[in-house]
Amino acid sequence: MAGARVRALNIPELLPAQTGETLHARVARSLRQAVTQGYWPEGSRLPGHRVLAAGLGVSRNTLVDALDQLQAEGYVTAQGRSGTRVSAALQPVSPVRHPPTLPLSAWATRALAGQEQDVGGDYVVDFRVGQPVPELYPEAAWTQALARRAGHGSADAQVLRDPLGPLDTRRALAAYLNAERGARVTPDMIMLTGGTQSALDALARVFLEPGRSSAIEAPTYPGAWAALAATGAQVVDVPVDAQGLDPVALPGQATLLYITPGCQYPTTVTLPFSRQRAVIDWAEQTGAFILEDDYAADLHHTGRPPTVMQGLLPDRVLLLGSFSKSLAPVTRSGFLVAPEAVTRVLAGTRPLTDRVPGVLDALALGDILASGAYSRHLRRARQTLRHRHTVLVDALDSAFPTWQITPARAGLHVYVCLPQDVTAGEVLAHAAGRGVAMSPAGATGRSQAVLMAFGHLEPHQIRDGVARLV
Ligand SMILES: Cc1ncc(COP(=O)(O)O)c(C=O)c1O
Repeated sequence: MAGARVRALNIPELLPAQTGETLHARVARSLRQAVTQGYWPEGSRLPGHRVLAAGLGVSRNTLVDALDQLQAEGYVTAQGRSGTRVSAALQPVSPVRHPPTLPLSAWATRALAGQEQDVGGDYVVDFRVGQPVPELYPEAAWTQALARRAGHGSADAQVLRDPLGPLDTRRALAAYLNAERGARVTPDMIMLTGGTQSALDALARVFLEPGRSSAIEAPTYPGAWAALAATGAQVVDVPVDAQGLDPVALPGQATLLYITPGCQYPTTVTLPFSRQRAVIDWAEQTGAFILEDDYAADLHHTGRPPTVMQGLLPDRVLLLGSFSKSLAPVTRSGFLVAPEAVTRVLAGTRPLTDRVPGVLDALALGDILASGAYSRHLRRARQTLRHRHTVLVDALDSAFPTWQITPARAGLHVYVCLPQDVTAGEVLAHAAGRGVAMSPAGATGRSQAVLMAFGHLEPHQIRDGVARLV
């Protein structure tokens, strides 16, 4: 600003120090604010170094360091003997008075609308679903596998680049699913995920959009409903009765159908083979893909888990599995099994989101699957779950003969249908008054059923919780 009239500038106050801030950073911040807030107008000449340092109460060296930084950032310009000036192009930043409105996408708006509020609360006995079950963690095997894999050099460059996850783990998982779940899987049909929710999200975004439709069991797992609905596609409810999803009520067409045939969520019933067959026929006729959520397979405590539908029609049934309950509370880990044409698409879209799955967890998972340590651990854990389930069902049967309890062969909760004259809301409120929490079995307050999780509670806590309800 050659020729501009030079005004004598005031010296700003040093701003209060921030935690961990060096003195020169504090001086730089104070001077930067003097520029950005118009205290020092553009083009004006700063007082000489000696005067400025003395006015701020700092050494000349500290001031020079701070000015060097502001010069590098473009706030001031050193002009030889004519001193240092505020850069010409700077406009004062007016202090923001209103937080900016977020320009959310339609997807984000729909995703947020589908979120459930966590009500929290402090209870003596907490039967709510979704709680970690320490007995399910193969702690020793898992920590050993993690420690072995944590050393550097255990993951080669290819592993770090493969969007489907480490090949060794996919091989071990394919062998496990073929042997234990009656699946028909090759390693190239597997994508390792951060849990079922991330697989649902990836599939929903790849296959759905406004104008398309999806179908889902009603009632269902809220996380699945939300992932489908967030895409803007129509979500069609297919009613569930005492045997599970009713195939007669399937819509004329849909791009995806989400179901939980092994252990319907939340009613816990297993879909009979005749109905599975009817659903498969429907998928072949309509061209729909079936998303089979096998969430409870590893949580099967009574008898052997039913084999998966994926084994009946690997071209159309996509299998979703999760280790998020059975590895460690801090691990998010799961998988998707899909025809290779689908995994190839997902391998192409994944780099836009999380690039590759958590490689350390994936490598350790492959080791405990291949060594058999995971299966051995689950066999023991299932005994504990079976016992706790029996304790809860027996306690409820004798305390509430009019409640209709569905014994569960798998999963971590019991589905309880209430008599006609009480609502779930009334039972939840009564329980809360006695220090006991339960989950509603549906989003609406008019639901006639409640869910009681048992896996994380000791038998004496389960008995105490039921006794408090009486
Ligand atoms: C029906 C259903 N599917 C999937 C999951 C697991 O999801 P994630 O692997 O995202 O934890 C759960 C867990 O509660 C579930 O209830």
